[in-house]
Amino acid sequence: MKRLIVSAVGAALLAYGGTVAYLQHFDHITAPELPASSPTLKDPVALAAFNALREARCDYCHAEQRDLPFYFRVPVAKTLMEKDRANGLRHFRVEPVLDAFEQGTAPTEEQLSRIEEVITQNRMPPNLYLMMHWHAHLSNAEREAVLKWVQDTRRKNYNNTGAAEQFAAEPIRPVPESVEADPAKWTLGRKLFFDKSLSGDNTLNCASCHGLDTGGVDNLVTATGIGGQKGPINTPTVYDAYFKMAQFWNARATTLAEQAAGPVMNPVEMGSHNWEEVANKLNATRNTHRCSRLHLAQMPRLMKKPSPRLLASLKKRWLRQMALLMNTSKASRMPLVSRPNAGMNALRPLVAQVAIPALVWVDAAWKSWVLKVITSKTVVAS
Ligand code: HEC
Ligand code: HEC
Repeated sequence: MKRLIVSAVGAALLAYGGTVAYLQHFDHITAPELPASSPTLKDPVALAAFNALREARCDYCHAEQRDLPFYFRVPVAKTLMEKDRANGLRHFRVEPVLDAFEQGTAPTEEQLSRIEEVITQNRMPPNLYLMMHWHAHLSNAEREAVLKWVQDTRRKNYNNTGAAEQFAAEPIRPVPESVEADPAKWTLGRKLFFDKSLSGDNTLNCASCHGLDTGGVDNLVTATGIGGQKGPINTPTVYDAYFKMAQFWNARATTLAEQAAGPVMNPVEMGSHNWEEVANKLNATRNTHRCSRLHLAQMPRLMKKPSPRLLASLKKRWLRQMALLMNTSKASRMPLVSRPNAGMNALRPLVAQVAIPALVWVDAAWKSWVLKVITSKTVVAS
């Protein structure tokens, strides 16, 4: 009996040892290679880091379409590995880092920082995987090589201006005292931030979720988007977003410009369908703002079937808005009030508030003229 147990344990150990040895061989022959032309081959710091990541086979779990060892097809093991792989792919992608090694360029600040974090904490590769891939365990020297490469790359490519020399390779940077910005652009940006026509049904602007009077957030557990739809994720603040090295919780946008396109088309955030639609809406409302939006939506209804309530509410707003239009319009664009005629100018308020609405009331041709003026992109040029 004793002998039986001993030989069973022996056989198991042999099988385990054999598998580990096979995997080591397989891991090595299928590992990522650098082409002979890669500048990394001539850069000892980068090469040492590349070799460490290559030895650990980070790509098994963090890159799509790899040659995987046979046990990825053996029941139980397959389930475990597939779970690790799915999870790993979701958390981090190593392909861009491998490409950077290949081309001798720098990964992004975000990629560097994430590698730095897991290596500092000694979290990768995961323990279960190490049980089958002994060679993949990173030695202290290998970990130091990776960390040195991260810091050197940072120093060289993401110059930490404003920090003392000993902090120059730190991932967290001092915020600059001032930022150069183009006033025309930030004025436009501020307008758009509050413009509801960025959303599919004109109900939401950026500030709906990133209230600038509520710390740049919506104070909800997860965001509420167009049509009251609940999103899956918490709204981060937009304060200081400019200074973040990456945008979104999973850092999927590198710059603010890349990020900004996201919420507008996201079906559970602002739910617009395409940029053409948004651009058309913005053009239509560009300068007349509150003025045209109301009429674009309501004029056709008014002409078809004017219910007394709609008429009453429109009339009130109509007067106010016509006055606004009159006051801000470039003279040449409004035939009725544009004549260089002092008498006419004196009449402007009256014309705006009474005459035009009255004419629109009684005359279909006037209605269509007003509609045209209001929907035209060039009504108000300033
Ligand atoms: C056997 C599969 C596997 C291997 C090999 C592996 N990882 Fe991971 N990795 C995971 C899984 C699973 C997660 C997500 C769970 C976690 O964070 O622990 C992850 C998460 C990460 C993250 C994200 C951590 C975070 O907090 O966002 C980074 C970065 C990472 N791995 C880097 C590496 C590097 C570098 C290597 C090679 C040295 C490596 N991984 C090897 C499975 C793997
Ligand atoms: C429906 C609510 C909602 C609207 C509307 C909205 N956002 Fe967001 N915003 C979010 C959520 C939720 C996230 C986080 C998403 C993620 O990480 O996947 C986010 C992320 C961001 C981030 C990244 C911040 C960080 O720390 O990663 C910025 C910047 C941002 N939004 C700006 C905008 C701008 C500009 C607009 C208008 C064009 C806008 N948002 C409209 C909910 C919203």
